[in-house]
Amino acid sequence: MGFIISITNQKGGVAKTTTALHLAIGLSENHKKTLFIDLDPQRNATGILLKQTDFPIDSTVYTAFQKKIITGDMVHTTTYDNLFVIPSSIQIVELENSLSGAIDGFFRLSESMRDIAKEFQYIILDCPPSLSVITVNALVAATHIIIPLQVSKFSIDGINGLLDVISTIQKRYNAKLKIMGGLFTFYDERTTMAKMMNDMILKKISIFKAKIPRSVSVEEAHMVKRSLYDYAPKNKVTQAYSKMVMEVIHGLE
Ligand SMILES: Nc1ncnc2c1ncn2[C@@H]1O[C@H](COP(=O)(O)OP(=O)(O)OP(=O)(O)O)[C@@H](O)[C@H]1O
Ligand SMILES: [Mg+2]
Repeated sequence: MGFIISITNQKGGVAKTTTALHLAIGLSENHKKTLFIDLDPQRNATGILLKQTDFPIDSTVYTAFQKKIITGDMVHTTTYDNLFVIPSSIQIVELENSLSGAIDGFFRLSESMRDIAKEFQYIILDCPPSLSVITVNALVAATHIIIPLQVSKFSIDGINGLLDVISTIQKRYNAKLKIMGGLFTFYDERTTMAKMMNDMILKKISIFKAKIPRSVSVEEAHMVKRSLYDYAPKNKVTQAYSKMVMEVIHGLE
C-alpha cells in the first residue's frame, strides 16, 4: 500500500486545496501514480482538475461513502498521465447526519479505499474546513497528515483543537497516522509574527522547510483552472510547492 496523505485544518482559507492540488500534481509529475480525493462539498479542486464540478452521483465520493467501495467509474482521468481524481459532490453534506448515527460511520472512507489503495503510490485527501465526520473519515483512512498553517494568531488557537482530535484518532481508530508537519502558507519571513509562530508551532509539531509565500498568481491560476506549475512556473509560490513535494518524497521513500 502507498501513502495516504490528508491535508487538514478545520480553519477555512488556509490553502488546503491549493496545497493538496500542487502536492498531487507535483507527485504525478515526478512519475508517482497519484489519486486525488476531493472531500470538500465546495468542489474547488474537482473544478480545477476536471474542469467541471457536476458529475452523476454514482461517480463521486458520495457513493464511495454510501456503498463502502470505490468503483472504476468514480476514478476520473486528468490531463496529467499519473493523476486521477475522485470528485466531490454537494450531497456529501448529508453524510454528516447519516454517518453520525452509523456504527461504522468513521470508517467508511478507509473501507472504501481498501482495494484501490494498492493501485496508487500516493493518495491525497483534500478536507473541508471543519472537524466533521468527513474529516474524521479522512484521518482514519490516512497514513500521514499535513497541516497548512496561515501565519496568524487565530491559526495558533485552532491547532490545539486539531492536535487533540488527531491524538484521539491515533489512540482509538488509526495508530498508523503520523503528522508529517505543518506547512506555513501566506508566509512573509520578514514579519515578527512569522518568527513567533515558527517557535510556537515547533514546540508541538515539525514544520516543512518549504514555506509558501503569498502571490496573486495563485488566484489567477485558479481562475483559469490551471496549476501554478503550468501558469506561473517561475513564481516563488510555484518553486516553494516544488520544494515541498520533494520534501514529501524524500521524507517518505
Ligand atoms: N500562496 C497564496 N497566495 C495568495 N493567495 C493564495 C495562496 N494560497 C491560496 N490562496 C488563495 O486563498 C484562497 C483560499 O485558498 P484555498 O482554497 O486553497 O484554501 P482552503 O484552506 O482550501 O479553503 P477552504 O477552507 O474554504 O477549503 C483561495 O482564493 C486561493 O486562491
Ligand atoms: Mg479547500
